[in-house]
Amino acid sequence: MEASQETVGIDQLDLSLLDPVLKANSGQKGSAIAILQEAQGIYGYLPIEVLEKISEVTQEPLAKLYGVATFYTQFRMKPVGKHLIMLCQGTACHVMGADRVQQAIEDELQIENGETTEDGVFTLMTVACLGCCSLAPVMMIDGETYASLTPDSVRKILRKMRKEADA
Ligand code: FES
Repeated sequence: MEASQETVGIDQLDLSLLDPVLKANSGQKGSAIAILQEAQGIYGYLPIEVLEKISEVTQEPLAKLYGVATFYTQFRMKPVGKHLIMLCQGTACHVMGADRVQQAIEDELQIENGETTEDGVFTLMTVACLGCCSLAPVMMIDGETYASLTPDSVRKILRKMRKEADA
């Protein structure tokens, strides 16, 4: 049985979803980042087709948009899995063992930072401070915070989520 994926594939890309965003920002100089943020909010990442359409409508060179999208870590050029794991590697989390937690995630899911599991269930991304350092080490998955992580606890969390995804 194929794992269900919520990621938007190229074949299902509906570029018309961008129209309201482009209309709202039309004629505004320096709005490229705002448009890219909204586009990522719609598609989950920034497919090249989306950049092409933004370039066409805003007259911003495609190379410039591509440069912005690849420069800022907030932007993703590849689709993300059903669950995006944002593991904090800020100072407090680092000191409290975020590296060991990251290693456990990578071993458990057989991916490295920035990659998505083959079944499309998980994407791992390390981020800077998530703003809750007293709970270090911390990760956030789908907006939920997981605190005081250990290699064991993170494995348990991921196994439970994978079971739910397979159900
Ligand atoms: S350093 Fe991880 S939450 Fe602040």
